[in-house]
Amino acid sequence: MRISDPDIVATLAEIHVELRQGTTLAGLTSLGIGGTTDMLRIKKHENLPDLLNLLDANHVPHKFLGGGSNLLVCDGELPWVVLQLVRPEPDVVLDGNLAHVDAAADLGRMITFCAKNDLGGMEGLIGVPGTVGGALRMNAGAYGMQIGSYVREVKLYRAASRQIEILRGEQISFEYRHTSFAPDDMMLSVILELPSKPFKEILQGIRICNEKRRSSQPLGQKSAGCIFKNPPGASAGRMIDELGLKGLSVGDARVSDRHANFFVNAGHASANDMLNLIADVRERVQKTYGVSLENEVVVWNA
Ligand code: EPU
Repeated sequence: MRISDPDIVATLAEIHVELRQGTTLAGLTSLGIGGTTDMLRIKKHENLPDLLNLLDANHVPHKFLGGGSNLLVCDGELPWVVLQLVRPEPDVVLDGNLAHVDAAADLGRMITFCAKNDLGGMEGLIGVPGTVGGALRMNAGAYGMQIGSYVREVKLYRAASRQIEILRGEQISFEYRHTSFAPDDMMLSVILELPSKPFKEILQGIRICNEKRRSSQPLGQKSAGCIFKNPPGASAGRMIDELGLKGLSVGDARVSDRHANFFVNAGHASANDMLNLIADVRERVQKTYGVSLENEVVVWNA
């Protein structure tokens, strides 16, 4: 979707929104898949309500992009514009055990920065790619921990009220890869309350998690992490592996040889290749195990 109306373009400049015309999302997603659209980069949180009013008034559909690391976007000309926060500098400010973090901050860099200041707790998330906002929205977790456990307060744009609001941690429900945020809420910043821990100790935890991840996940390849959520009490990866589906391909979309719940783009996979592979694997798991696997990856279909 392209924004060409000069009045809209002028208003965007007034509200400090940068228009990047014809952005290809394949370059902004870890899967390396996705079509083209105009991108709106937001420099000031407080201008979001004005921006969304402008888009609505002009019937311009939109979607929010975080780090693009858990996302499968369809190909071709996309029927919505994409909104993304510009990362401010600094993006993490510490105050005792509290970390004030912008949603656009890189998750891994934030964890490392906190660790260097003797704040721990999130060692398990160190290898998870993406932004803090994305991790928050879906309550990213690994190795027995989840980001939601550390949330003191979240600042977000609420689609329902069309305003920026602040929610306390207790007002948000954080479940396994799921939160009570609405799909069209946009994370802006978060205050995390982290336990004090000596850097050396945190580093040891980080090394152990990194080692586990390196030995079990295809880190060098284009993927969106796990494709399916684990069903209660079971492992999607193990089920897919037991069915002998590692290496199964549709075009260049391929079930990883290393971890069967990671589907990789081994070359120039199209979104349809990936979607067809997902559908095929889901059907086979359903047939054998009677379990309907739910997507963990977020799909943006036209
Ligand atoms: N397994 C296999 N074959 C495989 C993959 C796994 O037999 O191809 C077995 C493993 O040997 C293990 C069990 O399945 O006994 C579980 O595997 P793993 O420890 O890799 O954990 P997982 O349940 O597959 C979850 C998260 C990961 C997270 C790891 C580590 C989900 C869907 N996945 O994977 O998160 O990194 O635990 O905590 O919850 C993600 O969210 O994208 C993601 C990758």
